[in-house]
Formats: sequence, C-alpha cells, structure tokens
Amino acid sequence: MNAPSPAPLHFPSADLMQLGAYYYPEAWPENQWARDFAAMKKLGLEFVHVGEFAWAYLEPTEGNFDFAWLDRAVALAAAEGLKIILCTPTPTPPIWLTEKHPAVLMIDAAGRRQVHGTRQHATWSSPVYREYVAKIVHELGRRYGYDRRIWGWQLDNELTHYGKEPDFSEPSQKKFQAWLENKYGDIAALNRDWGNQFWSQLYQRFDQIRLPNLPEYVAQFNPHQMLDSQRWFAEEAADYLRFQTAILRLYCGPRQWITTNYIQGFPAIDPSLNARDFEAMSWTIYPVHGNANEGPLGFRLGRSATLTFAADFMRSLNGAHGIMELQPGQVNWGEVNPQPLPGAVRLWLLRAFATSAKFVCTYRFRQPLYGAELYHAGLVGPDGVTPSSGGEQFAQVAREITQLRTFAQPGAPLPTAYAARRAAILYNYSVRWDLDNHKQHKAWDTYGHLLKYHSALKRAGAPVDVITEEKDFSAYPFLIAPAYQLVDADLVARWRAYAEAGGHLILSCRTGHKDRRGFLWEGPWAAPIVDLIGAQIKFYDTLPAPNVGHIRAGDHTHTWSTWADVLDPAPGTTALAHYADHYYAGEVAAVTRALGRGSVTYLGADSHHGTLEAQLVRDVLARAGVSVENFTEGFCVDFRDGLWIATNSTEHTVTAPVPSHAQFLIGAREIPIAGVAVWKS
Ligand code: GAL
Repeated sequence: MNAPSPAPLHFPSADLMQLGAYYYPEAWPENQWARDFAAMKKLGLEFVHVGEFAWAYLEPTEGNFDFAWLDRAVALAAAEGLKIILCTPTPTPPIWLTEKHPAVLMIDAAGRRQVHGTRQHATWSSPVYREYVAKIVHELGRRYGYDRRIWGWQLDNELTHYGKEPDFSEPSQKKFQAWLENKYGDIAALNRDWGNQFWSQLYQRFDQIRLPNLPEYVAQFNPHQMLDSQRWFAEEAADYLRFQTAILRLYCGPRQWITTNYIQGFPAIDPSLNARDFEAMSWTIYPVHGNANEGPLGFRLGRSATLTFAADFMRSLNGAHGIMELQPGQVNWGEVNPQPLPGAVRLWLLRAFATSAKFVCTYRFRQPLYGAELYHAGLVGPDGVTPSSGGEQFAQVAREITQLRTFAQPGAPLPTAYAARRAAILYNYSVRWDLDNHKQHKAWDTYGHLLKYHSALKRAGAPVDVITEEKDFSAYPFLIAPAYQLVDADLVARWRAYAEAGGHLILSCRTGHKDRRGFLWEGPWAAPIVDLIGAQIKFYDTLPAPNVGHIRAGDHTHTWSTWADVLDPAPGTTALAHYADHYYAGEVAAVTRALGRGSVTYLGADSHHGTLEAQLVRDVLARAGVSVENFTEGFCVDFRDGLWIATNSTEHTVTAPVPSHAQFLIGAREIPIAGVAVWKS
C-alpha cells in the first residue's frame, strides 16, 4: 500500500479545525432527520458521522443490501452543507451472520464463546468473518467511494474487545502460530528466544503453542511469549484495518480520507502500525467519567496531560489528527458519571485546537432514549431539540473557530524562542507491554511515567511530539526516552549520535535493561547505556507502603516509592540529585554529562507526582540555554497557525505569559478555571 495522499487535500489549512457529531439515522424516525441535520448546522457543525453500527440495516439478510435509507440520510445531511464521515459497520455483525457461523464469535479468557446482543463480539482473525466484512465493505465502497458528499471513512469502531483482549478463538490461535512460524522459521529459534529452557517449556512444533491465557496457568507466565502475543495481537488488528482500507481504496483512491477511531491510551492496539495506511489519525477520549484525577476539581475537568499526550502522539504519526469522539457532557459507562465542570467541554475542544487537531467530533448528537447508553449526554437532550450545556459549548467554539479563521496565519512557523524548546518523547508499545508485564512494584504505572515526562515538558512551555523510533531524532533539540526498557545496539548508537551532534538526551530509570526479546544483558546492569549515561547502575530499589524515599535535588526534596536506581557516576559525569534516606543515603539518583555538542541526562527515580522529573527536565532545557516557562501542571500554552492558545485545566486562575503588544482574540490575560485565551503577538 502506498502512503496516503497528504492531508491538505482533505483538511485545508485555512479551515483550522472542524466540528461534527455522531448521528444514527437508523435509530431515529426518518421524519426527524432533516430537522436534526438542520440543528447540527445551526450549532455550527460542519460534518456528521454515520453508520458504524448499522450492518443489520445495510444488509438485513445475507447478500441483500439496502442503501436506500442511507442515500436519503446522506442527501439530507449534504443539503445542509454537512460533510459526511461514513463508517464500515463491522463491529456489529447482524444476527443472521453469527447464527449461521457461530465460529466467527470470539472466545474470552474463560473459554466462553461470546454471543449476539452487544458489539465487537466477532473475531477479526476468522477468514469466514473477513469474507463477510469484505462483502459489505466492497458494497459500501462501490456505492459511496466516488461520492463527493462523503468526506472520509472510519473503519470499524474503537477496534478492540473492550478489555476482553485477546480473542482466544481457534482462528486467532492459528494466526498466532502462523505469525510465530513466520517470525522464527524453526521451533529451536523460538525456544531460544522465549527462554524455554526455563521450567522445561520447550515446544516441539508451532501448532502446540497457545496464546497465553492467565487463568490457564498455575504459575507465572513466560514474559517473552507474552510479549510476542501482544505484538501479534496489535499486528493482527492493524492487518484487519489494512484489509478494510485496501478494499475501500479500490473505489475511493485518495479522494476520500480513511481513518479509524483508536481509544487514546489503550494499551493493546498500536496506532503507529497503521500510520502509513491512513491520511489522518483519529482517537476517542472521555476525560470525565468519575475517574479520580488529582485535585478537588480533577474529576470534573479531566487531566489535560492525557488529552495532550494522545494528540501529540497521533499528530506525530503522519501529521494530521483529530478527535473522533469527545464527550459532550455526562456519560453512562463510568462507575460514577459526574457532570463535567461548566466550560469543560469548551476547554477540551480548544485544548484539541491547541494541539493542531484538524477536527473534533462528539459522541453523540442526540441523547439516546433506549439501549445500553441511556443517560449518555448528547449535544441535544432527550427531546431531540434543546441544546445541552455541551451543545451550547460546541456552538460557542464553532463561532470562535469561525472568528479565528480570519486571524490565523495557516502554516506560520513556530516563533524562535518556542521552537528552541522543541522536544520529542520516544514511545514504543513493546516497551510499554514489557514494563507492564513485569512491573516489579505493583504501583509502577508505565503510562503515568510517560505522562510525568510529557507534563514536565509542557510545564516548561515546550512544543512536544510523541514519536516512534522510525522518526529522525535530529529535528528535536530535546529527546526523552522514558523507561525505555528494550533496546538494541542500533538504537543506543542513534542516541549517542544524536547527543554528539548537539541534541540533549534524557533517559529515565528502567531504560536499557533488556534486549528486544525481553532478556537481560549478560553484563553490568543496563549494559548498553552505561557508557552513554556516564554512570554504572549499582542496583535499584522499590519500597512497600507506607515507606517512602526522599531525593534532594538542589533546594528541592522529592518523594518516591516505585523505582530508584542507585548510580555510580564515572569521572566527568555530574550528579544532579541524591538519595536522602534508606541505607544508600547520600548516593546518586540522577546524573548528567556533556557528550559531543550535546548532553545526556539520566534520572534514576520515578518520583511521586513527577516533581523530580519536572525540575530536572526544566533544568536540562535551561542548561541548554533556551528560555523556559514554569507553568503549573494543567496550564498549557501552545502555538498553531500564527495563534497562541492558553488553556487552564488547573484549579485556580492563571496569568498567561502574554506580551504587552499582544492582541487577544479570545479571553484575556487572567484565565479562570476551565478558561481559554487566544492571542496574536
Ligand atoms: C465509545 C464508543 C462509542 C460509544 C461511546 C460512549 O467508547 O466508541 O461507540 O459507546 O464510547 O461514551
């Protein structure tokens, strides 16, 4: 598959960001469709998203396709000037399909075949299921692939089994075995790379291997087998998306854009695997669902770091990203489903805007009156016409974007002082899986550790990309690889070359412990990075509650409990932080050294709330001679298309760093809680 066409074709830069909503024509009386599309238009929406659960309406009986209703809905939406995102309906196979072929139903970890009555219950590894998927996707492509009213396509829906991954059906087992055979060639190589000498786990043939399933194991699983099964699952999901993409491309070519809606932060599916298949990367986020975010208002505001990290990752994959689902208000599926703070929906929309999102779509336009998602807010309430608070906030942002379009300078280069702070975080799903498979401290939180470094950079006022190893590091003055546990000689050589050429590299605890299979090195701890960081890692410690450790860095004291490396700096390496207690009090917790024209800094501890990370990352930027901010966590300032955008997700009013000659387009220098300011300077 060729790389898709560039985004400007589909997302003209002058449009900045467009808003839309999910709508289910199949679920509402037809005589309300025109009214609903007109109401979307009136709210300022520019597109509508349809079809992802409509298979039973599109193919009511096998081989009998009915597009007449969808044609009428498309015509009415287009008549209002709304662009259409059309979806493949493959998360919801009709009952006739699963009744005829029960083997397409997935099997969960307890060995239960899933049944009709919900969604995402089929196995996309089944050749039979794929045949049916191919038929409906061909039909949709044939009918709408040339239709200019269709702006783009979404494949499936949040491709996942909602926590029941992987699927243990026979088709999955067979594809896993075939994937292993292809990877290893012969069983001896697999036995070697899975360390199967351990506990006599040797296999004789590939067809003896099963996907690791914890309830089936008396004792601990094999971590190398587990890692491979996670890689296989993610690649299989990516393959399924590619399979659908290839069919649609036959009809739509590059005229329409294709994406899927990944769940942000979801560990099992790796969006980077499809970065070359899609014109835009899109994702779903529900910042408020009763989750215990920090601070008294955290549960109403969500955590800006989560949204920003996801955006910085998705945008970096191929340059164009958007949020496909953003909650419009209260949801129904959390353990507790509080009201977002008034203004929070607008805050999230403009936070997405600040990350250069091309579009934001909300889930959903109307509050449902029946079904599993009763109590889920929409842009309009249960009467179908009265805008909810979220609806009003969408309308306000739509007006604000219209205004910003007249002031923006699409493609304006980053201002010099801001560009000087450009930073990247290196992110890798295998690394994340391997860390999570063996945490070593139950409170170790891999994603949380990444967010600490991301937040440290945002607090310093840096523009951040979250990148994968394919990317060129040299575009970034600062590069952080947090807890990058799996490395090889090539990657370490690239890190060294990056620093020697003037880059400032930051590595954190757990980096370099293992090779890509997940084996420790036969040598000193984290052998491949010892020379690079200019220190030996003597040992590491973890603390059981209620014990905590303290670290002194300059005038500040930080606490930790999940991980701490005790370092032995080589001559020429400077200690940045020391342990203040436990039997290694006085020993070194973080170091830095000059290397070529750049530097390498190593932070050996994972601090509570990321306070050590924030201090030392900021210091790296400052030592490199760039101007740095010192924002509170949750306050962000970003630049896009000639505009500065500040968003306040903290719990107090913040004074934005705005030069006196600046022209405010939205808000003012004093930014209230959940407030936003946009200015030109
Ligand atoms: C998403 C899902 C949507 C809808 C929504 C409700 O995760 O993709 O289909 O269920 O949650 O908040």
